[in-house]
Amino acid sequence: PLTAPAIRGRKVRDGADPLVMVTAYDAPGARQADAAGVDMILVGDSLAMVVLGYDDTLQVTVDDMAHHTAAVARARPSALVVGDLPWMSYHVDRAETVRNAAALVRAGAGAVKLEGGRKRLPMVEAIVDAEIPVMGHLGLTPQSVRAMGGFKVQGRTSEAAVALVSAAKALAHAGAFAIVLEGIPDQVARMVTEAVDVPTIGIGAGPGCDGQVLVYHDVLGIEDRMAPKFVRRYGSVGADSTAALGRFAADVRSGAFPGPEESYHLSAEVAETLGL
Ligand code: KIV
Ligand code: NA
Repeated sequence: PLTAPAIRGRKVRDGADPLVMVTAYDAPGARQADAAGVDMILVGDSLAMVVLGYDDTLQVTVDDMAHHTAAVARARPSALVVGDLPWMSYHVDRAETVRNAAALVRAGAGAVKLEGGRKRLPMVEAIVDAEIPVMGHLGLTPQSVRAMGGFKVQGRTSEAAVALVSAAKALAHAGAFAIVLEGIPDQVARMVTEAVDVPTIGIGAGPGCDGQVLVYHDVLGIEDRMAPKFVRRYGSVGADSTAALGRFAADVRSGAFPGPEESYHLSAEVAETLGL
């Protein structure tokens, strides 16, 4: 399997291919992502929104994340499995933070991810000190939705852009092996990417990053109630699913399903004994 130390050196400016990360939340999703050859599978706390039906990511717990991380890990992917630390699992103190990160490692994660910059540096250091690789996440950090006043693009002022560069440098210095950049102008993502020696992985951050990440359900078009600007859909699995389920329903109602080839049959002898 790919490891966090192997990912750390993968800067596009040094000739590396861009990194590909996609989320997955269960074993079939992980098998599909792995068969597609992605570098990293993120068990994102987007779980809350795309799988569990919540409006934001604030409701999921370490137990929820460990449950889904374990399902992904059971697929034994070659990709690096990154487990997302949920809100309030790394905000209180270092001991609790390390124990929560360890719970995701024991569930099968090869690394954990957490959101935020300078405020989270002691927690990043504590997790790294416990020998657990950490991925950072800056910009539009969904766990800050209340504090940001909604899901809004970040880093639009020169001050905010400079602060993002400095936060990224601090995260890399604290030991983060890669940094997700979410929902920031492409020029700012380029500035950050140039400023740090670890790969940046963008989502809504333009093409100037060292890699890209998208949510599984968005890539596949499993639902299209919301279409953020940064999503490109590579499938229409949701429409395919509804159509397939509709054909199943129609076949049951018409008596066309199941047919003889989808049924079990008695041997001729037993059938005759029973007078059938
Ligand atoms: O939870 C998630 O899916 C994420 C990615 C969007 C980076 O954090
Ligand atoms: Na997340």
